[in-house]
Amino acid sequence: MLEVIPADATEEIALARSIDFARLPRHVAIIMDGNGRWARQRHKRRIDGHRAGTVSVREVVETAARVGIEVLTLYAFSVENWKRPKREISALMALLRRYLTAELATLIRSNVRLRLLGRLSELPRDVQAGLEDAMASTRQCTGLTLNVALNYGGRTEIVDAVRGLLAAMSLDGRAPESIDEAALATHLYTAGQPDPDLLIRTSGELRVSNFLLWQIAYAEIWVGEVLWPDFRRRHFLEALRDYQGRERRYGGLASPQ
Ligand code: FPP
Repeated sequence: MLEVIPADATEEIALARSIDFARLPRHVAIIMDGNGRWARQRHKRRIDGHRAGTVSVREVVETAARVGIEVLTLYAFSVENWKRPKREISALMALLRRYLTAELATLIRSNVRLRLLGRLSELPRDVQAGLEDAMASTRQCTGLTLNVALNYGGRTEIVDAVRGLLAAMSLDGRAPESIDEAALATHLYTAGQPDPDLLIRTSGELRVSNFLLWQIAYAEIWVGEVLWPDFRRRHFLEALRDYQGRERRYGGLASPQ
């Protein structure tokens, strides 16, 4: 019997074939934006948009793990997000807790190691406990590292890194002149990880929103009009393909033609 492959699937296969999987970005960071607008367009509550966004999270984590990305960082809750209505905040926290409980076995099976970036000590105690457990149970995983940025701010992270560095320096009596970029980076939440090569933002906004300010110094930026709950594997592959078409210069000259 003749098998009919849907047009979308054919497009996705062609897209996957156009990617050189030996030259992937090591670290992809994503600002998942547009959940509220997605919900408004459907006359739903904002939290319904966030809930729909977890489907995209699942698909992107699975794809990143399968294609061999080393680190994926998702911006789930910023230090500024506390300004949102209490109901939305507690619904978001519940959603995160539920996601981690429901997905833990899949994460372990896919060899995904979970890490959290942010001031976790300021989160509700039950959320903290759940997160610590989830991190501990994926500690032995050696595939994709999934960073979830939670109560995260780029400036806050730099402040925390400076505090950590100064505390270490006062212990071992190092002089201020010994501080260099590498010394500070060892106190960032992402210590030991490569910086993002690719920053993805959905919903068309052209802002970095206090996300990984230190680490995105040389990241390539991909902005899509698609709202986060509609973001699918196809969009992720599109971003990877576009990234491979960029010439990364790190402030140097373009390579000769
Ligand atoms: C931004 O959309 C999105 C957030 C503040 C939350 C993102 C959280 C999730 C997708 C939930 C699950 C996350 C994980 C890691 C399981 P917005 O509300 O600012 O949208 P708007 O700009 O359209 O209002």
